[in-house]
Formats: sequence, C-alpha cells, structure tokens
Amino acid sequence: MAQMRALLPSILIVLTLTVIPLVLSRSLPSTTALLDVTSALRQAHNVLSVEPRTTPLTQQEETQQQHSSSSSLVLQLHPRASLLKNKPLQQPDYRSLTLARLARDSVRVDSLVARLDLARNRISKSDLKPVDVEVERQYGAKGLQGPVVSGTSQGSGEYFSSLGIGSPPSQVYMVIDTGSDVNWVQCAPCADCYQQTDPIFDPVSSSSFSPLSCDTKQCRSLDLSECRNRTCLYEVSYGDGSFTVGDFVTETITLGSAKIDNLAIGCGHNNQGLFVGAAGLLGLGGGSLSLPSQLNATSFSYCLVDRDSDSASTLEFNTPLPPNVVTTPLVRNPQLDTFLYVALTGISVGGDRLPLSDSLFRLDGNGDGGVIVDSGTAVTRLQTDAYNSLRDAFVRGTRELPAADGFALFDTCYNLSSKGSVEVPTVSFHFGKGKELPLPAKNYMIPVDSNGTFCLAFAPTSSALSIIGNVQQQGTRVGFDLANSAIGFVPNKC
Ligand SMILES: *[C@@H]1O[C@H](CO)[C@@H](O)[C@H](O)[C@H]1NC(C)=O
Ligand SMILES: *[C@@H]1O[C@H](CO)[C@@H](O)[C@H](O)[C@H]1NC(C)=O
Ligand SMILES: *[C@@H]1O[C@H](CO)[C@@H](O)[C@H](O)[C@H]1NC(C)=O
Ligand SMILES: *[C@@H]1O[C@H](CO)[C@@H](O)[C@H](O)[C@H]1NC(C)=O
Repeated sequence: MAQMRALLPSILIVLTLTVIPLVLSRSLPSTTALLDVTSALRQAHNVLSVEPRTTPLTQQEETQQQHSSSSSLVLQLHPRASLLKNKPLQQPDYRSLTLARLARDSVRVDSLVARLDLARNRISKSDLKPVDVEVERQYGAKGLQGPVVSGTSQGSGEYFSSLGIGSPPSQVYMVIDTGSDVNWVQCAPCADCYQQTDPIFDPVSSSSFSPLSCDTKQCRSLDLSECRNRTCLYEVSYGDGSFTVGDFVTETITLGSAKIDNLAIGCGHNNQGLFVGAAGLLGLGGGSLSLPSQLNATSFSYCLVDRDSDSASTLEFNTPLPPNVVTTPLVRNPQLDTFLYVALTGISVGGDRLPLSDSLFRLDGNGDGGVIVDSGTAVTRLQTDAYNSLRDAFVRGTRELPAADGFALFDTCYNLSSKGSVEVPTVSFHFGKGKELPLPAKNYMIPVDSNGTFCLAFAPTSSALSIIGNVQQQGTRVGFDLANSAIGFVPNKC
C-alpha cells in the first residue's frame, strides 16, 4: 500500500507529460480553415424564402425567455433577417440583399467616424445648433434620400432585442447598438414617427413615466439638450440622416423577469431613420447614459448569431464569461467615452503574422486611431496598409481557388460554384501576450450572391479608426468586463 502511494506521484507525472503535448497540439490554431460552401449557400437561399414562421417571434420570446438567477439579466437577441422574415419579400435575390447590406454598412462606418471627429474637434455642446425640429426634419429627409439605398425597406440596425417599457410593460423590439449611449423609444403623440412593428408607446398609459427636469445629472449628460418648461428635451443624430428628438424622461424597463425603475430614456416624438420597424434603440456604449452604465452592470456580453440565420442568441448583463475566454484590455478614448476599444496588436493569415507596425492599431492621446468592437458595423474595417497586407497574404494562400470579379467594397472574390467546401488560410486576431483569436472561415469568406461568389469580408478605410464588425464576431460571445476593463471573446458560444 505504501508502495502504491509512492508510485502514484510518478504515475501522475507520466500521465501529465503524455497528456500535455496532446492538448497543446490540439489547441494550436491550424493554418487553414474549412469553409462549408454548400451550407453557406443553403443559408443564403433560406434567408430569402418567404415561408412564414410557425411561431410568431414574440411568442418564441416568451417561451425562450430565460429566467436567470441572481443579478444577471438575459435578453433574447435576433438578427435583422429573422425580424423581417414575415414581411413581404424585401429583396429579390441574395445579391441585392448583400448590396443593400453593404450600402448600409458604409453609412454606418461614416457615421461612426463623423461622431469621433466631432468629439475630437472638441465641438462643445453650446457650439451646436439648438434642437430645431423643422430643420431636423428636412435634414433627416435629405439624408435618407442620399446615394445610399433607395426605398423604405432599408434601415439602420442589424440585431434586435425585446424588452418591456413602462408600467404595465409594453413589449417592444429595440435595435441594440454598441456605438451609441442614449436609449430611446418612439412616443405618442408623434410629430413624425417612422413605421414600427409594435404599437407606439404611449406615456399616458404608463404610471411610471416621469419627465426629467433640466438640472438633473441625466439631462446634463446629454450631448444635445434643450430646456422647455423646465423639462429636458433631448436630441440624438446618428450622422447618417437618422435622428430622434423628444422628451428625456425616466421610465421602468422590464428585462426578462427583472424590473428596473427610473431608467433615463428618450421619449421620441420626432424620429427619422428607418430602424427596421424597431420601436427604438438600446445604447450599449461606454457613456454614462448607456444601458449598461445605468444598470451599473459590472459586465455585459452578446453573441451575434449568423446574420442569415433564423435563430436567436442572448444579450446578458452581469453574467461571468466562461474560462476559455480570450481576453484583452478594454481601452477608453479620453475624447469620447462611447466607443469600446480593444487592444488589437496584430493579425495573422495562414499562421504567419502580417508585417505590420503595432502602432497601426493603437489609440493615441488625441483620441486618434485604435480599434473598436461594434455591433452595428458588418464588415471589419482596417487602415489601408493593414488591409492590403492582409489581402495580399490571403490571395497568396488561395492561388488554387478560381478568382471572380470584385463586388462592391470587396476586391478579393472567388467563384466557388463548383465546390462543396474549400480550405482557406486561417485569419486570426492577436491581442498581445500570445493571445490569439482564430476566426471561423465563414466569418471572413462570405457569399455575396446565391450562385457561389464568395468574397474576403474585410475592407480598407481611410480613417485612422479600425472597426471589428459583426461579420467577424458571428458565433462568438463578446463580453465587456466593465469592472476590470477587459474585453473577452469566447469562440463557438452562441
Ligand atoms: C408649460 O407648462 C404649463 C403648465 O405647467 C402648460 O400650461 C404649458 O402648456 C406648457 N408649455 C409647453 C410649451 O409645453
Ligand atoms: C446605479 O447606481 C446609482 C448610483 O449609485 C443608483 O442611484 C442607481 O439606482 C443604480 N441603478 C441600478 C439599476 O442599480
Ligand atoms: C463559375 O464557375 C463555373 C464552373 O465552375 C462556371 O460555370 C461559371 O460560369 C462561373 N461563374 C462566373 C461568374 O464566372
Ligand atoms: C447568378 O445569380 C443571379 C441571380 O442572383 C443570376 O441572375 C445570374 O445569371 C447568375 N450568374 C451566373 C453566372 O450563374
């Protein structure tokens, strides 16, 4: 027996020695990734099918609503495509759908860059014109007719959650947005409201509705506000022609089974910008008026399901991330507290690190540069040098694949119509200290039509700001640990 005991440690050592190399080699990212062409195309066809859902979304919502324990709050999260599923066919084919998405995406990127420029040029609140509903209405209408997309079927917002507003709660769909802070809903009486799916929220029917006075902390935290009759008016412009103007109030919000009182929200009487039928917007940015800030959340996380899928995932507050998370510092911009920056240090393609100066991704003291994680941008934008380097390495690794013409903002495309699956070089983000996040192939080789044209889904930007978009985040739980200033990525965790 004593002998056995003495033997045990050495057996353990032997076991450990044999097990460790196996685990290591398993977890080493491979230099190529498999792209399932057939399944990507099947999903592309599916998103266009007009087959009605068997269960209405709101009913699914109720049955799926997770009753979370302790302080965590869990909301269902849906991609845009699943919300539009029961509407008359919006796009005739997948090619048009992709073109519309990419057009929206360019507008989104422009508006983020404009927001940052405004903050960096330190335009003070008093320099901005006061709220002028008439001017805004004209500006909004003009902005929407721009070169971008025609028709009212387009709109901002790519992912949505449902929550309750007021007492008793009215259940409504909201766009989620990591690129802004102010939460708002369309409110009766409407001076000008866009079409939404749920009935418009009427403050008269809510016992918890309460206007904020002008001298409150919340009112003073707004970028654009005005005082009328000592109550606070707010305005938010998104830089793409979308805006919302109305009363800044406090309301009770119901998230899953949790009620939160006195949340500062905008009650928008004049709203332009087609938020795809959503009742309003949830700001998940880093500013003091955002939902996570007002909830005093120590963390929040979301998982973006595939943009073409019918399934839902969750938006969670105060839920710890699992242990296999790849973490990196959450960096703040002293010029603008809204954006959530990640400390990206490099990118590799096919296992080889791109020869890029890491200053290319660094946020400088003037608030210039840096890399943000955004839920509303689709395609990751990199500074031109970084993009060119990535593209060249990817092209070198895919010489055997049949090339196709460029498509919209994509310059690297392939004709995979005769393939069931292909191997492509693995693209990984690096975060320093050996931390690496290899992306699944479908997060950077995406179909752009339904007959087999796939493109490398990265794009160059002339701005110093880089953006990690939702195509690259798909299927990954992205967690913002606000208490410890860290961002975490958990692959395959929707
Ligand atoms: C201001 O408040 C008074 C009374 O509180 C009300 O009669 C008046 O209509 C209000 N004015 C506006 C512009 O809302
Ligand atoms: C968040 O903290 C503030 C200040 O400590 C407090 O007034 C507010 O009620 C808290 N909100 C929630 C939802 O816990
Ligand atoms: C793609 O390749 C297939 C054969 O593999 C060919 O029939 C088809 O014309 C090609 N499509 C384009 C757009 O070149
Ligand atoms: C590709 O699909 C479109 C419809 O989306 C069709 O009009 C076109 O002819 C197809 N091209 C090829 C080369 O098959």
